[in-house]
Amino acid sequence: MSVYLNGAFMPVEEAQVSVLDRGFLFGDGVYEVIPVYAGKPLRLEQHLQRLQQSLDAIKLTVQEDWVAIVTDLIELNGGGNLSVYLQITRGAEAKRDHALPESVFPTIFAMANPFTPVQDLDAVKGIKAITVEDNRWLQCFIKSICLQPNVLLKQQASEAGAQDAILMRDGLVTEAAAANVFIVKDRIVYTAPKNHLILGGITRDLVLELVREAGFEVREESASRELLEAADEVWISSSTREIVPVTELDGKPVANGEIGPIWYTAMQHYQTYKQQLIAGE
Ligand SMILES: Cc1ncc(COP(=O)(O)O)c(C=O)c1O
Repeated sequence: MSVYLNGAFMPVEEAQVSVLDRGFLFGDGVYEVIPVYAGKPLRLEQHLQRLQQSLDAIKLTVQEDWVAIVTDLIELNGGGNLSVYLQITRGAEAKRDHALPESVFPTIFAMANPFTPVQDLDAVKGIKAITVEDNRWLQCFIKSICLQPNVLLKQQASEAGAQDAILMRDGLVTEAAAANVFIVKDRIVYTAPKNHLILGGITRDLVLELVREAGFEVREESASRELLEAADEVWISSSTREIVPVTELDGKPVANGEIGPIWYTAMQHYQTYKQQLIAGE
């Protein structure tokens, strides 16, 4: 695998960063994940806009040609189905100090991992999820590399025999450990509004566009536990998982425990969108 580090492409084995890097010492950095289908990045512009938003929020100035890095990385890694990962940290410093250093030399790292996109909708299986208290910080719109809370919440789900955790703050659904959450009730699609309590998913925005185009009403409102428990369908979305149906929640079936028809419609539109991207339409 060829990766990018601070201006050069190299085999992953040769890429090295300092132990004094603030990413290593403080988790002081941000990242981005861009899905690539047959060599074509999906919604690259939106991913790069969100990256800039994260960089601005952590007061880190970086001059990079992201499009060139992503394009070259895709080519160097065979141009198939990939998930491109970009990470920028505040770089290495002479002395460990919380306060921001005066001069910063960011560490810029990028890699492309193979990934298997959803292809056969009939083969998709619903997942089990549990609800957990959202105990993260209040700047979740930053795609921070400080993922310890998300890691622990996901682990909590695993230990409960579930594949994901649906996070609740003050009785309302925020998102999942590494995905956004959608709730369908009476053919209306609900998802949390984009604010400091969630990471505004690029997939989330695309899903909302697609379900609106398919004629469904969308409400960007935080769902209560009552709505979640009464849902006809629950889905989660992310760049590498697309749209995943949740068919069991806290040990009880979601509606009749089967994958719902609106998920199917949304996913069909998602697949068409991917095909158009690959065809260059
Ligand atoms: C906490 C969180 N929310 C939402 C998402 C979904 O974002 P996207 O659709 O841009 O992948 C992710 C993706 O990693 C995430 O980590």
